[in-house]
Amino acid sequence: MSAQGISRNLVSYSDAGFSRFLRNAFLAAAGYGSEELSLPVIGIADLSSDFNPCHRQMPELVENVKRGVLAAGGIPFVFPTASLGETFLNPTAMLYRNLLAIETEELIRAQPMDAAVLLGGCDKTVPAQLMAAAVSDIPVILDVVGPMLTSSWRGERLGACTDCRRFWARYRAGDLTDAEIGDVEGNLASTSGTCMVMGTASTMAAMTEALGMMLPGGATPPSPSGERLRHGTATGHRAVELAREPILPRDILTTEAFENALHVLAALGGSTNAVVHLLAVACRAGVRLTLDDFDRVSGDTPLLVDLKPSGTGYMEDFHRAGGVPVLLKSLEAALHPEHVGVTGRSLGEQLAGTQAPPAWQDVIRTTKDPLGPPGALAVLRGSLAPDGAVIKTSAASSELLVHEGPALVFDSPEDAAQRLADPGLDVSEDHVLILRNAGPVAAGMPEAGSLPIPKRLAAAGVRDMVRISDARMSGTSYGTVILHCTPESAVGGPLAFVRDGDRIRLDVPARRVDLLVDTDELRRRRESWRPPDLPVRGWRRLYAETVLPASLGADLEFL
Ligand code: FES
Repeated sequence: MSAQGISRNLVSYSDAGFSRFLRNAFLAAAGYGSEELSLPVIGIADLSSDFNPCHRQMPELVENVKRGVLAAGGIPFVFPTASLGETFLNPTAMLYRNLLAIETEELIRAQPMDAAVLLGGCDKTVPAQLMAAAVSDIPVILDVVGPMLTSSWRGERLGACTDCRRFWARYRAGDLTDAEIGDVEGNLASTSGTCMVMGTASTMAAMTEALGMMLPGGATPPSPSGERLRHGTATGHRAVELAREPILPRDILTTEAFENALHVLAALGGSTNAVVHLLAVACRAGVRLTLDDFDRVSGDTPLLVDLKPSGTGYMEDFHRAGGVPVLLKSLEAALHPEHVGVTGRSLGEQLAGTQAPPAWQDVIRTTKDPLGPPGALAVLRGSLAPDGAVIKTSAASSELLVHEGPALVFDSPEDAAQRLADPGLDVSEDHVLILRNAGPVAAGMPEAGSLPIPKRLAAAGVRDMVRISDARMSGTSYGTVILHCTPESAVGGPLAFVRDGDRIRLDVPARRVDLLVDTDELRRRRESWRPPDLPVRGWRRLYAETVLPASLGADLEFL
């Protein structure tokens, strides 16, 4: 029998007895006795950081997970990993998702533990942890810090971060004074927890639950609630059971699991970032998932959940209405009921005890009474994105889904920031704003794709325009925004050759996005094109040299 518990993964001194003796000696210094050390060891990844206010309540959650582990007869060992605070990492937390994934994978593999609990929340943490879990040889269970509660400003309900963008757009347009925007700033993120709309954090928490990597009901309890803490306790308890009767992530992360998750993503009107993240997790899990799967499932699944930015509500409303379990019940006919997650029970067994969306609420709809038509997320192809691009149609303007207009090109997010703020910029609302050099290789794929409306047009009341890029956008954003154009411009993708005034045609119903320039002219432009300079050292160089395209999940090729 292979080594268990604290005897796993001994340091290599060419003398296993000495390695264990030495480990025991250092554990004795930390107060552990040999009886305790015979128990199943549960590693708990703690992503507390002063640079990640969304995880402010994580220390309390860690204590509850530890309590669950102890109550079930295990012994908890807490270990830190990087904590990716979305608003604190330059140029984007996405650049560090793969770094956290590698770090977590290696710490699970190298340290002695029989099962791991991974605690995340803020946008890139959960995908990174799922990527690490997918290649783990021990049981792994995830839990999250949970969403913030809403606040209000002058009687209007307020939450991060769809309202952040809405109020900032009003401020840019001159609707709000400096004092008023300062007031709003103090009320947008009013408690601990993750953004409380259906942004990336909420979406990936729901994906984790739908994949079966989290105990049911874990995606939605608000961060400050007792229910959140009790879920942490139950997670710790379950981790000990998993250590004794291993169900491995590779048993859970199956084709059926991803199919189920894709239905939930579509019904939620979830973040476009989930496309990149799920592709990366599936790739590591050995599941063949493609962009076309997202379009297919989305095309069959109506929008069922009324949350911003696609709808009007917030995560606490979704939670009160029953959260992911009730949504799964609503989608039951389309799901794979035989799938088994960390509970050890099939989804069908789980849903047998779950109620359908209750009549007293209207946040979670039934498929007979949906909030919106199928196709909340669409995958486009065409001469601007031969390998694919995505659009969140549920958060776009319906009148712009078919549009033709002249291009206005920005060479980088910095170029866009500078010129879009210029009231003298020569631009009309018919223009198509093009941003390039913002893909994974060029820039780590920042959330720069939701370009602000040019200042002059914003002041004149224009609220949406067609915007196209190789960047991502925040899951909390809205607008007619085409993202993840692949191949990206930095490797010679078509965005690199667009010039101001070129005609661009978007046709979402036909799933097309095209540059209307003849092929001879494009060939001439390609011949004179030079790729941008890339980072010369460190992680950024390794990343730029080895990152895969967004259409494959933007993991590093050797992973
Ligand atoms: Fe952390 Fe939104 S900034 S979840």
